[in-house]
Amino acid sequence: MSQLQLGVFASGRGSNFTAILKAIDDGRLDAVVRVLVSNNDDAGALETAQDRGIPTAVIRRKGFPSRDEFIEAHIDVLKNHGVDFVVLAGYMKMIPEAVIQQYRHRIVNIHPALLPSFGGKGMYGHFVHEAVLARGCKVSGVTIHIVDEIYDNGPIVTQRCIPVEAADTPDTLAARVLKTEHILYAETLQLFAEERVEIRDGLAAIR
Ligand code: GRF
Repeated sequence: MSQLQLGVFASGRGSNFTAILKAIDDGRLDAVVRVLVSNNDDAGALETAQDRGIPTAVIRRKGFPSRDEFIEAHIDVLKNHGVDFVVLAGYMKMIPEAVIQQYRHRIVNIHPALLPSFGGKGMYGHFVHEAVLARGCKVSGVTIHIVDEIYDNGPIVTQRCIPVEAADTPDTLAARVLKTEHILYAETLQLFAEERVEIRDGLAAIR
């Protein structure tokens, strides 16, 4: 067991971030959130962090004279807060490659569909659920994967299926998927805390 020292990246309302905090409070997840990073001043997740006294940082490209300094800012904020594991919870920007290299196999993302379907650039939020319904899928779900240099591509750690109902709209499907996201993210992070996730030959295995 090793308590995860989390850095959470979120751009939006932050319901997954809240679910992670609740899992920690309830003793279901052995972790501490060391810092919440956003690219968006208006992110609900920032407010949640501030309310709880969790350090926050807003990192935007335009705040830095060069791309190198922008990238360095990500690494600095993680190192300065003692982060050893990074969680993307609705983060709308690519994580710079230098960060991925520093935290190889220690960055995870959550996607509201069953990857490798309905992933990649432009596949976020309601676009995902619209595409699932437009294709007539009978199941959708949640995927949690390791982040590598390609969007939505890294080793899949956990997935959970959710039946698509005939009457589903993108909103109703999104709401059911989100509920499962909140459960599965905490469970999956706990697998990392228990050191039960092994990456071998580009695949994640759970012991
Ligand atoms: C979630 O649906 C997640 O799968 C996706 O972005 C959304 C974030 O929602 N990556 P929230 O900000 O955690 O409520």
